[in-house]
Amino acid sequence: MAGPVTGVHVTGWGAYAPSLVLRNVDLERMVDTNDEWIVSRTGISERRIAGPDETTASMAAVAGLRAIATAGLQPDDIDLILLGTLSPDYVMPSTAALVKEAIGNKRAAAMDLYAACSGFVYGYATGHAYIASGMAKHVLVIGAETLSRYTDFSDRSTCILFGDGAGAVVLSASDEPGGTLGMEMTTDPSGAYLIWLPGGGAARPATATSHASGEHYMKMKGTETFKMAVRTLGSTATAAVKKAGLDLSDVDLVVPHQANNRIIEALAKSLDFPMAKVFVNVQRYGNTSAASVPLALSEAVAAGRVKKGDRLLMVAFGSGLTSGAIMLQWTADPAAMARAAAIGPADVHIQSGYLEPVNPFPLALQWLRDGTAPVRTADTGKS
Ligand code: ACO
Repeated sequence: MAGPVTGVHVTGWGAYAPSLVLRNVDLERMVDTNDEWIVSRTGISERRIAGPDETTASMAAVAGLRAIATAGLQPDDIDLILLGTLSPDYVMPSTAALVKEAIGNKRAAAMDLYAACSGFVYGYATGHAYIASGMAKHVLVIGAETLSRYTDFSDRSTCILFGDGAGAVVLSASDEPGGTLGMEMTTDPSGAYLIWLPGGGAARPATATSHASGEHYMKMKGTETFKMAVRTLGSTATAAVKKAGLDLSDVDLVVPHQANNRIIEALAKSLDFPMAKVFVNVQRYGNTSAASVPLALSEAVAAGRVKKGDRLLMVAFGSGLTSGAIMLQWTADPAAMARAAAIGPADVHIQSGYLEPVNPFPLALQWLRDGTAPVRTADTGKS
């Protein structure tokens, strides 16, 4: 491979969200909650739920192919596939390996990256390092989650928060200035058990008892998580900006992890940063963990919130506790912007023969099958 390169740029981006919409009013039929409480405490109105024919791999593959198409590349141009997820299809093989098959790539190395909601940002930093060292020219970085399969839909403190989806970028080597300007990654295990999923790992292998006691669902101490999130997001974001040699006033748009609108507003307030320059779509997707930042990035671009030369700050926080931030200058050329705008729902096709329908479909979501017909929304090709 060639030696170190000058710049690492986002050349492609894409997203996918399943069509099933789980609204707050639907959750009112499942647990003791209400739309007013959820909106006032989180800002979330609805979230997407993967259908029985969808998995983390299938959603990641669609988002990945859209990013590759936006970059004007072919799947085989990708040297490395990095998939941030905490909801893999299987413990093994890696979900990234399934994505490689589904997008029709014959030559990339592929691996999963476990950093919870920071998984995409950690993947970005890792992809950057591969390119900067000359080990790869084009890296596909994906964040994808099927959190609905790990959510206890009888626990009102968590089931209102999470949703499913995927987002991706292509990072490419370039001699042009701009691209990635500064990065920061931190891990603070003092909060390791604030958000966790106890069952199914080597410490607590799956048993009939572990299933019966709900150990295979996400658990969270919400209030403590909230406080640590605001503090850590702020310090991580500030560090990335500083490493770029910039000030917060130089940032044109912040694309934060979409966990809770109150966390995002508290972050902006703590940094004395205007909310007008913060992109928020948590109201429509809830917390999609590793998918949240790339899904928001794709929507921000599609909404015209990002133009060439803008300085973007992506910042995430999640279980671990992990946190990561990327400061970058948007350099995508007009042709890439036009390709992204033109991508429609049927423009990419995954090879999905090996992806099995989910069986049994999560019982907690029985309402999707025999309740009133669930609301669906059309795939736009953008999210
Ligand atoms: N509907 C109605 N009432 C509820 C609900 C609900 N869905 N959930 C909790 N309540 C009740 C509680 O029982 C409590 O009642 P009480 O006062 O009678 O005991 C009251 O509402 C207040 O509960 P709190 O937990 O104190 O509410 P809070 O304002 O902290 O909001 C929330 C809870 C939304 C979970 C908030 O703490 C939060 O967003 N935390 C951060 C979550 C987060 O960012 N997680 C990141 C996960 S990242 C990853 O890696 C997956």
